[in-house]
Amino acid sequence: MPTETPWEVPLSDLVIDSELEAAVRETVLSGWWSMGPRIAEFEAAFAEFVGTEHAFAVANGTAALHLALLAVGCGPGDEVVLPSLNFVAAANVAVRIGATPVFCDIGGGTDLNLDPEDVRAAIGPSTKAIVALHYGGLPCAIDELRELADEAGIALVEDAAHAPGASADRRPMGSIGDLGCFSFFANKNMPVGEGGMVVTRDPELADRVRLLRSHGMTTLTWDRARGHAHSYDVVLPGFNYRLDEVRAALGLVQLGRLPAENQARRRLVEQYRVLLAPHGVELLPRAPAEGTEAAYHLAVALLPAGVEQQTVREALQAKRIQTSFHYPPIHTFSAYRDHSRRPLPRTEETAKRLVTLPLYGHMGDEAVERVAAAVVEAVRSERAPTAA
Ligand SMILES: Cc1ncc(COP(=O)(O)O)c(C=O)c1O
Repeated sequence: MPTETPWEVPLSDLVIDSELEAAVRETVLSGWWSMGPRIAEFEAAFAEFVGTEHAFAVANGTAALHLALLAVGCGPGDEVVLPSLNFVAAANVAVRIGATPVFCDIGGGTDLNLDPEDVRAAIGPSTKAIVALHYGGLPCAIDELRELADEAGIALVEDAAHAPGASADRRPMGSIGDLGCFSFFANKNMPVGEGGMVVTRDPELADRVRLLRSHGMTTLTWDRARGHAHSYDVVLPGFNYRLDEVRAALGLVQLGRLPAENQARRRLVEQYRVLLAPHGVELLPRAPAEGTEAAYHLAVALLPAGVEQQTVREALQAKRIQTSFHYPPIHTFSAYRDHSRRPLPRTEETAKRLVTLPLYGHMGDEAVERVAAAVVEAVRSERAPTAA
């Protein structure tokens, strides 16, 4: 039985069905639970989907970012440029490898992605990499960031945790950076519970990711079990960031469902947009430009200036509608207050107006209407003059 929650409309929700159950059951009964045929199949299918030669299934999206930064040689004393309006994973990973995160501003207004001009200003002699987020699944200015990275001779890593299936001019997000990192966390468009993927076209980066993922060992248990190898060397100190077979089996089913999931999300987001726009509430990420496909991971309401984010969230909570906030800017967290104090006026101004609304492919029109009506009512009562 699914777990009971206090919400009538949750922020995200899983489809649980017999196909997923069968995939798990078959894998469990196969007797091979880690790094076997399902991982190989999942990696091959994902590499084909993203259009890269290499894909490595890993334990989660944070591990993917850790491996990507290590693979490009990021280490103590280096700087990593990234947006502050972001999940904290990339910043945490940079700090843990001894690098300094340098936070950049977003475009602002309805643009929640990195501002390439601010990235240009943030790049200095110690910069090793840009980690670019596709906020909410809308491709960021990836070509401009690619050019900036190439000019500066630094790496571009895509944090594509929100963006499986997003593309620009038919080029999938995750395939344009030196490495692309995905998350299959339980609330993502392609959920397996905990899981992630690192993709790259570069064979040398691929070798480093492969080794770092599994203790720097030159062969896997799977190779040895099949008689393809009999021993191993350790050529660099690595980790155990491997994914298991059960989650790879779930991932294969979810990958097959991703195009339909993204399309369903797209329709629901457009519905939100139409219902909210007449009331001064913009739905973000904004609609993709011609030739760009978004993955619609998040439906974020940009409240009119002056309307209290917290009051709107509480009004929805009272109606048992779950909301969230993507994201409290990283530079405002206690652990990051002393890091790289660049001015981030657009991040600070915009973040306080964001409320993330429920979104999942099987949500249904009625739930969208209900959430949108609750937002409109909350915004109206916030704006109404208080009685004397
Ligand atoms: C933008 C972004 N980056 C990285 C991560 C980290 O992924 P994971 O939770 O799988 O470690 C997440 C997800 O939580 C995310 O949303």
